[in-house]
Amino acid sequence: MCGIIGYIGNQDAVPIIVEGLKKLEYRGYDSAGLAVCGADGFSVVKQKGRLDALEIRLKQQPLSGFAGIGHTRWATHGEPSDVNSHPHVGQQNRIAVVHNGIIENYQEIKEYLQQKGVTFHSQTDSEVIAQLAEYYYDKELIKTVVKLSRRLEGSYALGIMCAAHPDVLVAVKKDNPLIIGVSAHGHFIASDIPAVLKHTNQVYYLEDNEIAVLTAQGVQFFNTELETVSKKIETVSWNPEAAEKGGYPHFMLKEIMEQPQILKDTIANLLSGKGAEVMQQIDIKKFTRVCITACGSAYNAGLVAKYVFERLLRLPVEVETASEFRYKDAIIDEQSMVILISQSGETADTIAAMREAKRKGAFTLSIVNVVGSTLSKESDVCIYTAAGPEIAVATTKAFSAQLTALYLLAVRFAVGLGRLTPTQAKQYIGQIQSIPKKVAEILQEVDTVQRYAAACVGYKSVFFIGRNLDYAIATEGSLKLKEISYIHSEAYAGGELKHGTISLIEDNTLVVTLATVEKLYPKILSNAEQVLSRGARVLWIGNAQTDDYGGRLVQLRLPPIEELFAPSLSVIVLQLFAYYIAANKGLDIDKPRNLAKSVTVE
Ligand code: F6R
Repeated sequence: MCGIIGYIGNQDAVPIIVEGLKKLEYRGYDSAGLAVCGADGFSVVKQKGRLDALEIRLKQQPLSGFAGIGHTRWATHGEPSDVNSHPHVGQQNRIAVVHNGIIENYQEIKEYLQQKGVTFHSQTDSEVIAQLAEYYYDKELIKTVVKLSRRLEGSYALGIMCAAHPDVLVAVKKDNPLIIGVSAHGHFIASDIPAVLKHTNQVYYLEDNEIAVLTAQGVQFFNTELETVSKKIETVSWNPEAAEKGGYPHFMLKEIMEQPQILKDTIANLLSGKGAEVMQQIDIKKFTRVCITACGSAYNAGLVAKYVFERLLRLPVEVETASEFRYKDAIIDEQSMVILISQSGETADTIAAMREAKRKGAFTLSIVNVVGSTLSKESDVCIYTAAGPEIAVATTKAFSAQLTALYLLAVRFAVGLGRLTPTQAKQYIGQIQSIPKKVAEILQEVDTVQRYAAACVGYKSVFFIGRNLDYAIATEGSLKLKEISYIHSEAYAGGELKHGTISLIEDNTLVVTLATVEKLYPKILSNAEQVLSRGARVLWIGNAQTDDYGGRLVQLRLPPIEELFAPSLSVIVLQLFAYYIAANKGLDIDKPRNLAKSVTVE
């Protein structure tokens, strides 16, 4: 939530920061701003609304400078407004700050400073950082930052500039991500890699309570004792085009279309790359139970995995949303494996769930897309998906990569437990390897889904049903639709409808029905008939033979595959269905209202 960027170098910071903010907009987009530091102190431009609004303001009020900080906001404390936007500047215009995170003790600090005569202008928690820094400032910026970080409680990634040191940019973080980029023309701080990718693929990952001091010439790192810290620079493998739309109208469509390749890459990494080595190290025999915990779509991937793991491993698998897991006093111990799934690796609840699991002695395995993220570093082992940067707020390719990683884990673990022979495992792996090609086949038929979706824009409510694995993937179809099209939707286990929800079915209600689990074909068909006989329309996804019920049932077939892995195919249809409905409604698909991609607050 919220994206920050800072630049100091020999080029104009303003266009660099605006461009970087565009790459971070997925983290929040209710207001944005930037500050540059010149000989006369700070010049700040900030504006409620999308970045376009900030760009318009910048045309009216041009800024330039060789050092600056910028921010794109997802409001937590204080409504989206010009005054609540970042950067925040202390009342003497000496210190400017951009902040990603939440300061939990801001009220107490605010009252303390008010008693000292400081006047606050915004309702944000972040303004206290700028005001407190200014209050503490005593000629030495780095000492001020140390003092500041000791006083702040909560989470923060901060970019700080001081008018008395216009040639220095300071960063510090706790529980929120921050990278430091090193390029030929200058140095960067940023919440995420895509913001700097155009300029450099050389980055440092800042650790909690480390302080980075950037100048145009170099970067130095310190701990809070002001001792120098030596850090290793990392080379990012993502290419700059990965963070561009590449001719597609939306990142979401581009990312859907990228899936055959990213699935191939993910499978290759987990079968013969570094991921394979990591998987080999895990002795599944040590564990008596598996818990999977995650948020949103990543949680839905966990729901699918539960069915696959239980079928192949015959071990009890529990799936829990991370926001519940962290507070429920989970029954786990040294014999438990806790699997955490996250695209960003920075989701606050998932990180807290991992820490809780570790505290209880469980073994933690994370499946993460962003290299160097908190989850990847803190979990006992981490398996990376190879989805590349995902920019659209609604996940597609990262979700698919998570599913594939979970399938491969399940097969490896089943072999480890002696539940699958090497020959059986080979057959399953062959099926998993066939997924990218089959996904590509579905993507070639995109017109069929597009046409069907175009006729669905008028629905006020859509239900998704399925049984077993199909129920699990129905939850993802429903989430995709509601988050980007703003159509109300619910996912139900097919057998559950008649216990209440069926009362909502009326003439022309749409019920998307997933039917890939062979032994349950008759059951899900009878659930579909129950809604058809009450006037519903059905989109039937799967290969089971059925009637068209006088044109009220439309069937979309899938390439044949071992049914355990069918969710990887049906989800492609569900993603396209949601995408084209939202596109036909003319919505801002990549940045749905109220949402942000990286949820670093509770
Ligand atoms: C939905 C979506 C979210 C994320 C969730 C977890 O399309 O993207 O539900 O799946 O916020 O995020 P990560 O995977 O970064 O932990």
